[in-house]
Amino acid sequence: MDRDTGPHIQKTPDVRTGGAARLMRRKPVELLVAEGGHGEGGELRRSLGLWQLTMISIGATLGTGIFVVLGEAVPDAGPAVVVSFIIAGLTALFSALSYAELAGTIPVAGSSYSYAYATMGELVAWVCGWCLLLEYGVSVAAVAVGWGQYIDELLHGTLGVTLPQALSAPPGDGGLFNVPALLVVVLAMAFLLGGARESARANTVMVAVKVVALLLFCAVAATGVRAGNYQPFMPLGMAGVSAAGATLFFSYIGFDAASTAGEEAKDPQRDLPRAILLSLVLVTALYCLVAAVAVGATPWQHFEGSEAALSGILHSVTGQGFWPTLLAFGAVVAIASVVLTVLYGQTRILFAMSRDGLVPSVFSKVDPRSGSPRANTVIVSAFCGLLAAAVPLGRLADATSIGTLFAFGLVNVAVIVLRRTRPDMRRTFRVPLSPLFPLAGLGLCLWMMFSLDAVTWQVFGLWMAVGAVVYFGYGMRRSRLRTAPDGTAAAAGPKSASTEE
Ligand code: ALA
Repeated sequence: MDRDTGPHIQKTPDVRTGGAARLMRRKPVELLVAEGGHGEGGELRRSLGLWQLTMISIGATLGTGIFVVLGEAVPDAGPAVVVSFIIAGLTALFSALSYAELAGTIPVAGSSYSYAYATMGELVAWVCGWCLLLEYGVSVAAVAVGWGQYIDELLHGTLGVTLPQALSAPPGDGGLFNVPALLVVVLAMAFLLGGARESARANTVMVAVKVVALLLFCAVAATGVRAGNYQPFMPLGMAGVSAAGATLFFSYIGFDAASTAGEEAKDPQRDLPRAILLSLVLVTALYCLVAAVAVGATPWQHFEGSEAALSGILHSVTGQGFWPTLLAFGAVVAIASVVLTVLYGQTRILFAMSRDGLVPSVFSKVDPRSGSPRANTVIVSAFCGLLAAAVPLGRLADATSIGTLFAFGLVNVAVIVLRRTRPDMRRTFRVPLSPLFPLAGLGLCLWMMFSLDAVTWQVFGLWMAVGAVVYFGYGMRRSRLRTAPDGTAAAAGPKSASTEE
């Protein structure tokens, strides 16, 4: 029978084992780690310590959520928005524990995509990688659009200039092309082309600026805090508080960004788990502080329909234009660092997927001078920049949350699977009370997913359908992982991969 299929197929055992085995083939953890850092055309450079890794995660997390989304959540939760932040933070925390365990055990660039490949097989890994494209690639575009709005506000506050609508919105949103959104992506690309260390340096400065801006907000707005503003604490009951929590989950997206730096960290097994957890704790504390001061300084009803809520509060507390303008500057820097770090994460995830053959090899070519994947960076930036500038994102932006939650859910499952399949592996961090905590993480992710509306689910379904076409039309056939008849898997070199074509 084998002989009839021709000599070419006889050489590739995965074809004989059939489609199901291909979909389920898992990448051995040792192979994942051994390949770490090596792309098609070179190695990524290990230059990041605990401090920079923590800053990458804070850089990717702290941005639009606190500067913009807080204002949208207060009308639901009232002064209890602080509790909403804690609920959303707890949801993120359970998944962050799982990320910390896997990042310390499998310290590679692909983040949850690689964890899924090692534990649940290629198809699930692809689904995860495709979701990460929503979490990272599409959210960069959405965040870049938010940056454009703050730039507009800053220009208005400082120079009295307002950008024409035609140059600050895409077609469909009343404009022609969103120039500021494209500009911030191009700026981030310029830093990333310089290499991970240079980008991390720039990010660290930006994180310092945004943290100082938020602390200044707290110091100035605290002078306007009135105890009466905290009454009633939960005007719309617990339902309002949890609805606001689901909205505010967006502000925690990004804590996992350090896990995409697994191949550029100096001591990934020690530092990645610490960076992920440390960034989440710091960000949660800052969010709660800012939220408590914000609702103490302004009656909660005043948040309804307000844009740039934090700037508005400073204006009403001080009666001056200086503080709101300063805060707008902080927001511009804050959101730019989200764009930088999230764009970074997207390039590294595609790097890992390309090394596995699931996306074209151009994504894993490393520039020897900067030690970074330059072609990858340019392609991803062009894609995200054009998406931000020319496409009204609408529902696609909402879908980033559902994609992120799906990927987080898979990471929780991966912890449980790897504990069973590879109990022997060295783990520098262990999720306490496993499988209870990972199951709690999974449950919370599912709960949040099901609290999103039907249209978001439809967009998500469409996105996954496109992903299935790409996988079955390209990735599955080009995968470098060969499955032997006994179900074991190993990577084939670039040559043997190409023999199948
Ligand atoms: N958490 C990121 C932000 O709030 C996505 O901008």
